[in-house]
Amino acid sequence: MSVKTDFLVIGSGIAGMVYALKVAEHGNVILISKTVLEETSTKYAQGGIAAVMYSPDTYEKHISDTLKAGAQINDEEIVRITITESTERVKELIEWGTKFDKESSGRYNLAREGGHSEFRILHHKDNTGFEIQRALTETVKAHSNISVWENCFTIDLLTQHQKGVNLKEIKGEIECYGAYVLNDKNEIKTVLARKTMIATGGMGNIYQTTTNPIIATGDGIAMAYRAKAEVENLEFVQFHPTSLYNPRETPSFLITEAMRGAGAILRTRKGEKFMHKYHELGSLAPRDIVARAIDNEMKLSGDEYVYLDPSKISETELLNHFPSIYAKCLKLGIDITKDMIPVVPAAHYACGGIKTDKYGRSSIKNLYASGEVASTGLHGANRLASNSLLEAAVFSHRSAMNAISSFKEVEHELNIPEWDAEGTVLNEEMILITQSKKELQSIMTNYVGIVRSNIRLKRAYDRLAIIYQETEDLYDKSILSEEICELRNLINVAYLVIKLAMRRKESIGLHYSIDY
Ligand code: FAD
Ligand code: SIN
Repeated sequence: MSVKTDFLVIGSGIAGMVYALKVAEHGNVILISKTVLEETSTKYAQGGIAAVMYSPDTYEKHISDTLKAGAQINDEEIVRITITESTERVKELIEWGTKFDKESSGRYNLAREGGHSEFRILHHKDNTGFEIQRALTETVKAHSNISVWENCFTIDLLTQHQKGVNLKEIKGEIECYGAYVLNDKNEIKTVLARKTMIATGGMGNIYQTTTNPIIATGDGIAMAYRAKAEVENLEFVQFHPTSLYNPRETPSFLITEAMRGAGAILRTRKGEKFMHKYHELGSLAPRDIVARAIDNEMKLSGDEYVYLDPSKISETELLNHFPSIYAKCLKLGIDITKDMIPVVPAAHYACGGIKTDKYGRSSIKNLYASGEVASTGLHGANRLASNSLLEAAVFSHRSAMNAISSFKEVEHELNIPEWDAEGTVLNEEMILITQSKKELQSIMTNYVGIVRSNIRLKRAYDRLAIIYQETEDLYDKSILSEEICELRNLINVAYLVIKLAMRRKESIGLHYSIDY
């Protein structure tokens, strides 16, 4: 059951869609989404997309803010590329139909977020991602060269490994030939592609509390790692300082940083301001600092949340700029025009991932990665707010240009065996999977969170090893399902976070250890 395509795109968020729309002008495309096209982290983005639009903002200022947030371990060339190409990429999103808010003068209304020295965030009210996803989805669905596969789960990449070669004996480069995909009829398709793009997003679900939708299970990073691609910087997990405190809700609802940009400030449950003790920018300090400060205040007081006080923002602005947050809070009995909002940090963004170069190329031939799954070098030790949608647009464009220029030279690899399901007889018990997932999330939350230590990391490593072995055994015996694959991927990426955190013997950016 093999299928051939010029371009295989795994993921339907901003990264996958931008790439797909560009390569589809030159060849045929299969675009895969694990649920429906629209269900992505992209859809939940609130604050907006950072881009230099008008003076007094300059590329140099945005570059400097990005490097400062990233603790200067960003790749400066990549930072320069991303920021200097920001205006072009944003214009393209607008041409595809995205509507960003404007002022009566016709200029775009720009917001400000933590770590930004200027107002430079283009937004659509407080649901920018929804608007971007809407525009891209409509454009993709109308493109005759793009074949959309919804509710299809990519299991693993095809490389020389699947041809029965022991990877250790491969002399030249590892090459990617496509992927094995489990479809909604429980068939496993062998998708042969000249060029493969991984755009599978983040991995927030390795933690108990995350802003990420349930699709964010680190699948792309795990499958690339299994195929021996280089990965990096996974110890830098960004916790968003302000998710709505509502313990029974998964994923956690975000309270955008743009609200602090508009004047909201953080207070303890007793109503005292505290951010000035931690940073001169107060509530608008970079995210790692704000999240750690909240964590510390909660530990000192024993409280389960702090407050975000929006009383400095006018009622008109609250209702016009933040209608989704207003409606959500009101449903829970919080009227943000009068009340403070209870907030807690939540796992939000993976700064690391599959290592890519300036054309989005991974270390595996004909395999690209873009968006949250990739590590381009832009973010360094901590991502500047609203730089991720931008990064995805810039590197999907660059990957597309590179793939277009070379895909005709690549022959489909026809010598790939069908998926081997022999020996898999067990219909795994769901309880084994759900319980292991809970254990994993508890390990990561308790030992690999905002504040780390050597002893906690070692404990996490040892505990995870047990779940890893149990899950590998179960996977080998089980009839393949999305649930067992996701659990395996979550464990793989959690292992990488812990391993890279153990290797980093310093406190820097999002990796903060009491031992250094
Ligand atoms: P996603 O948009 O997550 O898309 C992933 C795609 O991969 C999905 O289609 C999924 O189905 C598919 N997929 C995953 N695994 C598989 C598999 N095994 N098989 C098949 N398909 C698979 N960033 C900003 O710059 N500005 C913001 O204002 C902002 N706000 C945010 C608010 C929230 C609540 C969240 C969660 C994130 C926010 N971010 C923001 C971060 C940003 O939204 C994400 O980093 C970005 O959207 C990721 O885009 P992506 O295309 O890489 O992945
Ligand atoms: C937010 O709106 O606060 C999220 C912005 C981001 O994650 O970049």
